[in-house]
Amino acid sequence: MSASIKIALIIGSLRKASINRKFAQYIVSQMPENVTVEEVCIADLPLYNQDYDDTTIDSYERVRQQLTAVDAVLIVTPEHNRTMPAALKNVIDIASRPYKESVWRHKKVALVTASPSNYGGINSGLDVRKSMQMLSAHMMVSPEVYLSQATDSLNEDGSVTERTQKYLQTFIDELVAFAAGTDA
Ligand SMILES: Cc1cc2nc3c(=O)[nH]c(=O)nc-3n(C[C@H](O)[C@H](O)[C@H](O)COP(=O)(O)O)c2cc1C
Repeated sequence: MSASIKIALIIGSLRKASINRKFAQYIVSQMPENVTVEEVCIADLPLYNQDYDDTTIDSYERVRQQLTAVDAVLIVTPEHNRTMPAALKNVIDIASRPYKESVWRHKKVALVTASPSNYGGINSGLDVRKSMQMLSAHMMVSPEVYLSQATDSLNEDGSVTERTQKYLQTFIDELVAFAAGTDA
């Protein structure tokens, strides 16, 4: 039997009908039995302020502990104004502090972006990669998945189209191997 693997899921969109949530749900649904995925809720996190480094904020501690406890983090996010959404940047900042206590250091991180536009949220994705590089996270390099015209990849009931399911399969396989450490 394969060893159990824990993945934390961060969805960069806060909106109920998020298309990114739909792609994330599909990816999670394809995980093998030995993989547990837990979503990290980012909607309730107060805006990061360095003054808080000397205090205890329950929601900050919750996300730091959640991210510390997993083998890998999966981020699925839209793009807002050519970069990552503020809520996603907020959790990245929160988990990067206090100084020298960052949970991102050597953390495995994989990324998907999705947008109805032609660019697929790539600028958001590249900015996440830039922050993760600075934080010494271990990014899954490929395949890079920036889903363009992403509403066309969803059926009317919100399920992912067969074509995009096939497209996502390599990413899903690689994510499992990456989290398990068998990708080398
Ligand atoms: C404040 C704001 C800024 C946006 N900026 C971009 C952008 O820079 N690039 C892009 O491709 N889409 C942009 N969009 C459109 C989003 O891609 C679209 O709303 C998408 O559905 C958001 O993902 P979600 O459905 O998961 O929330 C923006 C949307 C909002 C609300």
